[in-house]
Amino acid sequence: MTPSEKIKIYENIHLQWSGLVDTNAPWYSNLSNAAALLMQELNPWWVGFYLVKENHLYLGPFQGPTACTRIAKGKGVCGTCWEKRETQLVPNVHEFPGHIACSSLSESEIVVPCFNRNNEIWAVLDIDSKLFNDFDLIDKQELEKFCASLEQIDHDRN
Ligand code: SME
Repeated sequence: MTPSEKIKIYENIHLQWSGLVDTNAPWYSNLSNAAALLMQELNPWWVGFYLVKENHLYLGPFQGPTACTRIAKGKGVCGTCWEKRETQLVPNVHEFPGHIACSSLSESEIVVPCFNRNNEIWAVLDIDSKLFNDFDLIDKQELEKFCASLEQIDHDRN
């Protein structure tokens, strides 16, 4: 896929999302549709959200095979994203220290933090691929933009 083809896919994602998101609906309804939209358009091996609750991330809405339910802060790619407060772009998961292999078929991964209005991380978006080196700086930029648009959703989680 060329960079311009990839950017077109993300433009389509952002456009569809602006029609789908319902800021008056509960977070789980919106994140369920967000995961489905990303699966539909990007067709990765796994896509989903982990939500912050106390000292752990807990599995939220996702599309793909079963995954680990709970991840501690600083553990794996997701826990590292939460701790460092920045996107983790992992071209080869086998080389990432402490990677948590929910599926032995995952080869590369991107995890993006979702910040709320108080600049706290309330969730991370995790996307896994069966191909090595499947995510690049376009994915990082566009998925950060997508996650920023989720800011409005973290309003009724408790
Ligand atoms: N690989 C992730 C765990 C989540 S699953 O891949 C869905 C990690 O290392 O945090």
